[in-house]
Amino acid sequence: MIQLFFIQPNGAIQDGRAVNGQTLLSAARESGIDGFTGECGGNGTCGTCHCYIEPEHLAEMFEPSEEENAMLEFVATPREANSRLACQIVVEYFMDGLRVYVPDRQF
Ligand code: FES
Repeated sequence: MIQLFFIQPNGAIQDGRAVNGQTLLSAARESGIDGFTGECGGNGTCGTCHCYIEPEHLAEMFEPSEEENAMLEFVATPREANSRLACQIVVEYFMDGLRVYVPDRQF
């Protein structure tokens, strides 16, 4: 299991778990994490799984695709350098302990 920490807008930390190869959105849902809507079902076309990735881990992760980059222009809260779509991130072992910041809204 890979341990994840989801930081809610009020500072509350929710623990999550993932298996290697699972998307971050799927892991969040299975872990009962609040704040992810994921309207398109993980297809990268709705922008409602927006999150901010801990900058220290961001450098180790693969870059967003052209499609993800385009969709990030339409998320509900400001796009930052560490903005990603949770449905497009595949969790891997090296992400153990990753902190994911959940925005205060997805619409
Ligand atoms: S679930 Fe729709 S973009 Fe991620």
